[in-house]
Amino acid sequence: MNYHRWDDVQQSVAAIRTQWTGSGRVGIVLGTGLGALASEIEAEATIPYEHIPHFPRSTVESHTGQLVCGRLAGQPVVAMEGRFHIYEGYTAAQVTYPIRVLKELGCSILIVSNAAGGMNPLFAKGDLVVLDDHINLMGVNPLIGPNDERLGPRFPDLCRPYDPALQELALGVALEQGIVARRGVYVAVVGPNLETRAEYRFLRGIGADVVGMSTVPEVLVAVHAGLRVLGFSIVTDLCLPDALEPVRIEEILAVARQAESKLRPLVIGILGRLDESV
Ligand code: HPA
Repeated sequence: MNYHRWDDVQQSVAAIRTQWTGSGRVGIVLGTGLGALASEIEAEATIPYEHIPHFPRSTVESHTGQLVCGRLAGQPVVAMEGRFHIYEGYTAAQVTYPIRVLKELGCSILIVSNAAGGMNPLFAKGDLVVLDDHINLMGVNPLIGPNDERLGPRFPDLCRPYDPALQELALGVALEQGIVARRGVYVAVVGPNLETRAEYRFLRGIGADVVGMSTVPEVLVAVHAGLRVLGFSIVTDLCLPDALEPVRIEEILAVARQAESKLRPLVIGILGRLDESV
């Protein structure tokens, strides 16, 4: 799949509709090590990706992924349990195709999260970062190709990719819950390698606070589709070029899992307050 087709999206939605007739409000994409939130959803339907036409197929047999449709903190949600990355070999269109489906299921808000390297020297391991902006250095873009105006405009505006009111709500709920939450700029690289010292120096120099290998493609499609986006990074490792230590992937995963215990109540708190303040 190299670009998104309206008819494909309708076929995916029709297949989901045979198992779930509800409507979503908030779509949720959970990043590496941050999947536990999905288990808190009062599920009305859990649909394996392989039962949805046009969804990407997992390259790892045991991790096919599923769509969890139901309620969380009283809000109708559709969560992707299992996400795809470009470094796995998927095209940008494949990675982001599920976002089109979330939109057609009724979602008007997208919450995305990821594990990221912290380059801002004020950030600590395990900190939560509310995304305020991003830089796309992936060298790919899911919006390349023929544009169907039913999906969104040819030249989407990215003046405010991350919804300011949702950012404020997130920071307010974090304060109430006593959770440290930063605000920052995410730069997306394609991976799968971590960066060199020279690259971290460069990425910090161009204005990024955190670096990761996901999220930006999904956000581009969400903005194109007219969704309001709230993005979070968990700082899993410190990327300070003059004091860089080799990272161990197991440690990144462990920090992400630990920070999940902060992200989970935060997201639930935000969903509970959505009607009051946004
Ligand atoms: N670079 C890119 N992606 C990452 C990193 C990093 O340092 N840490 C976690 N995801």
